[in-house]
Amino acid sequence: MHCFECGIGDPAAGTYARTVRTTHRPGYGPPEILSIRDQPIPAPGPGELLVRVRAASVNRTDSGVLRGKPFIFRFFAGFPNPRFSATGCDFAGEVEAVGAGVTGFSPSDRVYGLDDTGLGSHAQYLVVSTAKAVLHMPERLTYAEAVGCTEGAYYAVNFLNKVTVSPGQRVLVIGGTGAIGSAAIQILAAQGVRVDAVCPAEHAELVRSLGATETFDSARRDHLVPGDPYDAVFDAVGKSRFHDCRPIMAAHGVYLSSELGPRGENLVLPATTRVARGQRVIFPIPRNVRGSLVSVRELVERGAFRAVIDRTYALDDVQDAFRYVESGQKVGTVVLDPG
Ligand SMILES: NC(=O)c1ccc[n+]([C@@H]2O[C@H](COP(=O)([O-])OP(=O)(O)OC[C@H]3O[C@@H](n4cnc5c(N)ncnc54)[C@H](OP(=O)(O)O)[C@@H]3O)[C@@H](O)[C@H]2O)c1
Repeated sequence: MHCFECGIGDPAAGTYARTVRTTHRPGYGPPEILSIRDQPIPAPGPGELLVRVRAASVNRTDSGVLRGKPFIFRFFAGFPNPRFSATGCDFAGEVEAVGAGVTGFSPSDRVYGLDDTGLGSHAQYLVVSTAKAVLHMPERLTYAEAVGCTEGAYYAVNFLNKVTVSPGQRVLVIGGTGAIGSAAIQILAAQGVRVDAVCPAEHAELVRSLGATETFDSARRDHLVPGDPYDAVFDAVGKSRFHDCRPIMAAHGVYLSSELGPRGENLVLPATTRVARGQRVIFPIPRNVRGSLVSVRELVERGAFRAVIDRTYALDDVQDAFRYVESGQKVGTVVLDPG
């Protein structure tokens, strides 16, 4: 066996001599099924990188992949059992070794990436194909900040790409403290759009610092009182309904939600509202992970986007991290430090 630190062994055998700590689950289920295991370090195959993971996030996508819910997730994350026994869909760290044929990456490069179907990144090391969304980190970011620019930002880019809003137009973001909502506010503000946001009152200052002009307390329903109409309402936490938001929307306003809504109505309404040709509902299917991360990295590099970090958990506390994420109370990104 080859060890990349001591130089002993043979990476062609598929693993290195040393072991690493990683999360492990025997199948789909709640956070309680997670344990920590020692596994051999995988060796990078052709076109792959071995990355020493310095930070990963624990997010709502990880929770869906952990539980296999909604059921359709299993067709992407593995059926009948998960493809990766380790959880985690994003990472930031250093390239430790490169596989045959890799160009553009070298050992010690600082990289980050995301695959919303799972990467097994809740581990000290991972192997990832360079065909996936793996990018060099912006210089001034910490590893934790880099993973704060992945999952939520990816969905925000994908949702907002489906609407055309111009500088000066008005958008309401419901859920301004979520990973998706906090990213959406910054992306819209960078385009010169006037953004208002609904968020917990104690986080109003944070949300305004991200670019929101006016904030509404999420414990109240003041945002549903009609005023100047919104060209788009983006519910980033999936807590509203199109019907309730219609009075605050412009005649040709667009409604987007990150959730399916009661009885999956946000899957049906796009078709019916398109026929009616007035206010519309759009439910985008996210794609193009690499393109999304590149566009967010450009915003980071020009100082128009920053990661919102809630708190950091050690790998041993991964169950607690998942429970906290599933409480629906996080602010931005929860980070896992693999140690
Ligand atoms: N469609 C997709 O492809 C997709 C992908 C990923 C995630 N999602 C879904 O998108 C949603 C958001 O994910 P996320 O990670 O961004 O959320 P998150 O970070 O878990 O959002 C939690 C934050 O939202 C706040 N919040 C909760 N209810 C609110 C409300 N009614 N109004 C305003 N703020 C509220 C919470 O504040 P409090 O603590 O005060 O409640 C908390 O600060 C989740 O439901 C997730 O399942 C969808």
